[in-house]
Amino acid sequence: MIARGLMLGLDQPVVLHMLDIPQMAGALNGVRMELVDAALPLLRGVVATSDEAEAFQGVNFAVLIGGWPRKEGMERKDLIAKNVAIYRIKIKISILMNFNPVTSRRALQVLVVANPANTNALVLKEFAPAVPAKNITCLTRLDHNRALGQISEKLGVHVGDVRNAIVWGNHSSTQFPDASHATARTDHGEKPVGELVADEKWLRDEFVSIVQQRGAAVIKARKQSSSLSAASAACDHMRDWILGTPKGTWVSMGVYSDGSYSVPKGIFYSFPVTCEKGEWSIVQGLQVDDFARSKMELSANELDEERSMASEFVSS
Ligand code: LMR
Repeated sequence: MIARGLMLGLDQPVVLHMLDIPQMAGALNGVRMELVDAALPLLRGVVATSDEAEAFQGVNFAVLIGGWPRKEGMERKDLIAKNVAIYRIKIKISILMNFNPVTSRRALQVLVVANPANTNALVLKEFAPAVPAKNITCLTRLDHNRALGQISEKLGVHVGDVRNAIVWGNHSSTQFPDASHATARTDHGEKPVGELVADEKWLRDEFVSIVQQRGAAVIKARKQSSSLSAASAACDHMRDWILGTPKGTWVSMGVYSDGSYSVPKGIFYSFPVTCEKGEWSIVQGLQVDDFARSKMELSANELDEERSMASEFVSS
């Protein structure tokens, strides 16, 4: 997808740097061979390596998909412990080495995909103080796109005609998918989704839980976690961040909270954002009712707990 221009633009040549652990070097080389074999005109080079310093050298955009996956019987705390170790040791050195805040504001823009994505982003921020917090984000676009998909199916409209759903909070089952500001284009113009669905119960219950549980449902069906939709969402996230969001449209991104909407500072939380010239900004002034507020708080509380767990391992 990246080498076909879906992330950085259809006319933007790219050099792909791919990093994996030494045990995966053979498979990684296989991917490199396939990239060569695909004869992709935008692909101007491939670096396939297990060496972090080589992988991060000169990189402008980093998509961190590597993490320790949750295995049967693992508690969230175990998952956080494993990932803190990965994000602390591996990424810190590479990013610090590479980032130059003096010469270039946008030297490195990072998207964390690996779960627990919000807290991995926080750990990364703690260990890479030279990278401004605004250059580190985590993926909730997958949840955002899932929300658009569900609304489109419910209304029988094209997904491209639905916009401005919001996913608040953590990329976990406490996230709050919120359709209260979403709109859909119909033969009679653009209308609020709430008016078109006219089923408050569906919007508050079924819609919310389908989107919250979609990752688990995909794992159940495929016996593997989402891959196509996650990759597509990662491309959407980076493209909009770098090239800008369409006028009048916002997207959801996990970003370092500045306290907007009374979300506590110091956690990576998914907000509605617009992007321009490589910078995101949180959409301000949206109305949040009591129902939404309670859901948003629940997810913030979970992130706060994750932060406490992570800090135990960070300082150990
Ligand atoms: C997803 O939302 O599809 C994944 O984050 C689920 C997972 O745990 O891999």
